[in-house]
Amino acid sequence: MDQAEHQLLRHTWFPVARIEDVADRPVSANILGTRLVVYRIGDSITVAQADCPHRGVDLAMGAVREDGLECPYHGWIFEAGTGRCTLVPSLPPGSSPVRTTLRTYRVAQAYGHVWSCLEEPYLPIAGLADVGRTSWHLAYGKPVDLNCGMRQLTENFRDMGHFPFVHQGSMGPDVRRVVDPYQVHRDGWELEWELSTDLGGTALEGNQALGTRQTLTYHLSLPMFAWIRTVFPDGGRRLVAQFATPITADGLRVRQFWVVGIDDIVIEQHGVSLEEMWKYERVIFEEDYPIVENQYPKEAPLDVRSQAHAPSDRYSVAYRRAYTELLETFAKESR
Ligand code: FES
Ligand SMILES: [Fe+2]
Repeated sequence: MDQAEHQLLRHTWFPVARIEDVADRPVSANILGTRLVVYRIGDSITVAQADCPHRGVDLAMGAVREDGLECPYHGWIFEAGTGRCTLVPSLPPGSSPVRTTLRTYRVAQAYGHVWSCLEEPYLPIAGLADVGRTSWHLAYGKPVDLNCGMRQLTENFRDMGHFPFVHQGSMGPDVRRVVDPYQVHRDGWELEWELSTDLGGTALEGNQALGTRQTLTYHLSLPMFAWIRTVFPDGGRRLVAQFATPITADGLRVRQFWVVGIDDIVIEQHGVSLEEMWKYERVIFEEDYPIVENQYPKEAPLDVRSQAHAPSDRYSVAYRRAYTELLETFAKESR
């Protein structure tokens, strides 16, 4: 990743942990190779640098105390929120305090995840379909680390042409191969397009209603916030979202965070539970992993002339172009 992209991503909100995983013990996290620790005291969540400013021990091995995080090596305590060192147990009485601060980062909670940003955010955390305005039953997938670039993973999630080849196991042999022509609509740093397909009747262990013709709205908020909302012929709706956090400085390893949602119609009329839908999505993702980890170059090239495209790739060409523009705009504005 070049310096310009690295800078943009330092100013980007990324998920660092599922909220449900941040309980009584600190959790390891990472953005762009910056090792982080996430912990909770009551309702308040802190994201801090993971390396103790004393001798660099990983504070995710530490313990959450009443007012802060305790290092497992020498027991120094760093205050929640500010990171100020409030206790050095080895200090003799009356000696002057050790003044040091553990760096802390911005924190937000959205869509079942804790989000953080290494610098001043350039763009807000994007909206996830109509979550918050209409009722969805949501579940949050276990994060998965993958050897691929953030854009490579984001593009895979948007790609319909691979369904009949990569997803035969989950979707069955009769998925429609042709991808109908579609238009990508752009609004600022958001891309959206709509596509219909037919899963051939075998989706979710033969659940006919979910395996037939369906309309999918694809939405991508740059740089990597992506969701798909599926509407079935009877009006039932399903949602799947994916957010990819780069976890190395070169951006060639990512942590995939994902959200699954269904509405009441899918639950009541099709007898599909949220857990079943979650498992189904996980199988689909597991089918994708060997593909995204074996694409070269490891990150999707921004030069659109360096690869061949079919009309079904219209979205990825639009994504790469908009991404290039975002990099240029960010660089211009931050000069
Ligand atoms: S290394 Fe953390 S207190 Fe010494
Ligand atoms: Fe896929």
